[in-house]
Amino acid sequence: MSYDVNSLEAHWMPFTANRDFKDNPRMVVKSEGMYMWDYKGGQIIDGSSALFCTPAGHARREIAEAVYNQMLNNDYTPHFQLGHPGSFELAERVCRLLPDDFNHVFFTNSGSESIDTAIKVILAYQRARGHAQRNRLVSRERAYHGVNMGGVSLAGMVKNRDQLMDAAYGESIFLDDRTIDSHIKRLRRKIRALDKEFDNIETLYGIGYKYRAS
Ligand SMILES: Cc1ncc(COP(=O)(O)O)c(C=O)c1O
Repeated sequence: MSYDVNSLEAHWMPFTANRDFKDNPRMVVKSEGMYMWDYKGGQIIDGSSALFCTPAGHARREIAEAVYNQMLNNDYTPHFQLGHPGSFELAERVCRLLPDDFNHVFFTNSGSESIDTAIKVILAYQRARGHAQRNRLVSRERAYHGVNMGGVSLAGMVKNRDQLMDAAYGESIFLDDRTIDSHIKRLRRKIRALDKEFDNIETLYGIGYKYRAS
């Protein structure tokens, strides 16, 4: 495959020192299995599965063929008031892999969107049951929850938040990196200091895992 690139200026890269990259581009032009190759022919071991996006390895023929066939057969179905059988089949398969009380799936396009959706669900759920005051979110220091506004507000990565403090969701509490039990004890103390009504603690760790302390 050939590319027609005359300048690197137009593209702002995420989480990258743009000027350094553009002075010394580390451009990958081929990937296969666990390896990638840069434009000079240098081989790179992909130790993180392309940041967890290609866990089955690069350039798998069976995946490429499945995508190709799907694109020819039914490339995109708008999902407001319409559906297609594939997403229902996938939802059922995901539920079979999960513990019994996880029995519905809401699909998103990324981890960032998943976290923002989870925040919306939590806040809306508390409002619907008449607990609109339960709007404080709990997170860990150094936690990463993606790049959308909700996830950035909740993430404990100060550099990702420090330009956004006025706009960020204002009620998060950050815990340092200790064990779950010491988190819970510390959290109870913090929450009691904030508002005595909050004697029940629900926290969300990672995507979809709920820890409840009585
Ligand atoms: C816990 C967690 N939340 C959110 C994200 C963001 O996911 P994405 O890059 O797909 O938006 C990640 C990505 O590593 C993650 O590990």
